[in-house]
Amino acid sequence: MNLPDYTLEPEQVPLQEEPARSSAERDALKAEIKSLLAEKNAVLVAHYYVDPDIQDLAAESGGFVSDSLEMARFGRDHEADTLIVAGVRFMGETAKILSPEKTVLMPTLKAECSLDLGCPPDQFKAFCDEHSDRTVVVYANTSVQVKAMSDWVVTSSCALDIVNHLKDRGEKILWAPDKHLGHYIQTNTDADMLLWQGACVVHEEFKAKALLDLKKVYPDAGVLVHPESPAAVVAIADRVGSTSAIIKAAAELPNDTFIVGTDRGIFHQLRRQNPNKRFIEAPTAGDGATCRSCAHCPWMAMNALENMASTLLSGDNEIFVDPAIGERAMLPLERMLAFQTG
Ligand code: 13P
Ligand code: SF4
Repeated sequence: MNLPDYTLEPEQVPLQEEPARSSAERDALKAEIKSLLAEKNAVLVAHYYVDPDIQDLAAESGGFVSDSLEMARFGRDHEADTLIVAGVRFMGETAKILSPEKTVLMPTLKAECSLDLGCPPDQFKAFCDEHSDRTVVVYANTSVQVKAMSDWVVTSSCALDIVNHLKDRGEKILWAPDKHLGHYIQTNTDADMLLWQGACVVHEEFKAKALLDLKKVYPDAGVLVHPESPAAVVAIADRVGSTSAIIKAAAELPNDTFIVGTDRGIFHQLRRQNPNKRFIEAPTAGDGATCRSCAHCPWMAMNALENMASTLLSGDNEIFVDPAIGERAMLPLERMLAFQTG
């Protein structure tokens, strides 16, 4: 079976708009959201890529800001009746699969992920059927239907350990959807992996040649890269890892300056936790209107204070998952969470 390239076309990637609001309007919205969270017994779970105000709100209101693995764990273990998930759809769906009894809301239901969009369930089923001798390992950035066809779900925090474990058991792997992360895991584990050909529109744009040029300007800078980036970019990195691994590396490594190859939403935590260090964006293809994402996920950017307040007020934008499919998808997700804690 020849897999097509599942990288999205430019017109499939939405344009980003910065909301125009004064700092007084911002503070008023934040105060309103805090009181709505308390009134509705709701907790806010946010990803490192969303608006800094939302990240701060999560931290200040007893919620959580983290990578996709720890978002899933926190949502599952928290006792609130309602989870409001600021991120992209697969994060809301994961929260609902793991806590079917909770109400899961998102500021918008339009926040997709190019990896999820690039792995249509019917085509993925055909791929699995054709290679039924392989253990199916899917990245968390997938739909509930794709997760329900898998044996394991992984995130970039635990993918290496889980694939190493499967390799030690002599299992051959069918991997989806991110070809770059898959290649990185394959190279570092030497596992037998068949890769789906999806990509993240944000990380795919980081460019090795431009990164090497930037390194010449900042020769002492450490380079931190998310493994959804192309292999040539990963090869230049001093540390490769999930969003939380990047944050940890920035604190641990002795460098004063870092070039960071991931969504620029992460700079909020990097700067907050390392006020004396300097963080520079890794270069992407083109600039301004000529790059598709310009190092910021267009779907993560759809999470805003305004739509979060209105969602909490109205109860709209609820995530629903077919119970039978959700029950099946819970198995590989629980397996991932148990592997991490076990
Ligand atoms: P993390 O699991 O590292 O937070 O990554 C999620 C993601 O969508 C990266 O683009
Ligand atoms: Fe998906 Fe890439 Fe956005 Fe992460 S940054 S949510 S992988 S499109």
